[in-house]
Amino acid sequence: MMAVEGASAQARDAAPLPEAKPKLSVDRISSFSEEDLLALCEATDAAIIDGGGFGWINPPGRQVIESYFKGLLMVPEREIYVGRVDGVIVGSTQLVRPSRNNEAQAMAATITQAFVAPYARRLGLARMMAMRVEERARAMGYQVLNLDVRETHVGAISLYEGLGYVRWGEHPAYARVGGQMIAGVFFYKLLQRKS
Ligand SMILES: CC(C)(COP(=O)(O)OP(=O)(O)OC[C@H]1O[C@@H](n2cnc3c(N)ncnc32)[C@H](O)[C@@H]1OP(=O)(O)O)[C@@H](O)C(=O)NCCC(=O)NCCS
Repeated sequence: MMAVEGASAQARDAAPLPEAKPKLSVDRISSFSEEDLLALCEATDAAIIDGGGFGWINPPGRQVIESYFKGLLMVPEREIYVGRVDGVIVGSTQLVRPSRNNEAQAMAATITQAFVAPYARRLGLARMMAMRVEERARAMGYQVLNLDVRETHVGAISLYEGLGYVRWGEHPAYARVGGQMIAGVFFYKLLQRKS
């Protein structure tokens, strides 16, 4: 009897510990700590190298990325959201409100520049960031959220289709990467309607 108990205790001790689930969070950034800025620049750099760096094709260097994000904080129409894994920034997206002169489109905002670093993908963070931006735009009274993406960014297309965005058009000459023209895909979502 004692021998059996000893064996099961041994087996229990040898069993691998269950992996801790990473803690995901999203928050709006209105100033940067040194640590956050470093992590955001690293994540951006990694995303650009991987081929999905919201417009950048070649990594422009830490200084340029840092100035870009610091400058964004001063743009009145833009809000920056960051996604974190266990507190560390690994991705970001932006909400762009229409400029004040654009009365005809005062009801429509845009979600743009979404990315998650390759080392933190498929955890659900981009979905969480998009939902947070939607929630904010809806709360501010916007009726439409627009977005566009390169047709080669299939993960992003599947993400937004999964969130109920309606694909309404294609732009055949949307971007040029490595000398090749790439089409773009345009989406919208009506926000004040329950999805
Ligand atoms: C697109 C991107 C932002 C997704 O980030 P992510 O945090 O990995 O996405 P999530 O984990 O939230 O995925 C949510 C859903 O999107 C879809 N999706 C995400 N990545 C996908 C991929 N590589 N292939 C197919 N579907 C994908 C899936 O439906 C996924 O749900 P599931 O994991 O339950 O199947 C990320 O891959 C990225 O930064 N890509 C390069 C840049 C880019 O395309 N940016 C968008 C331009 S606006």
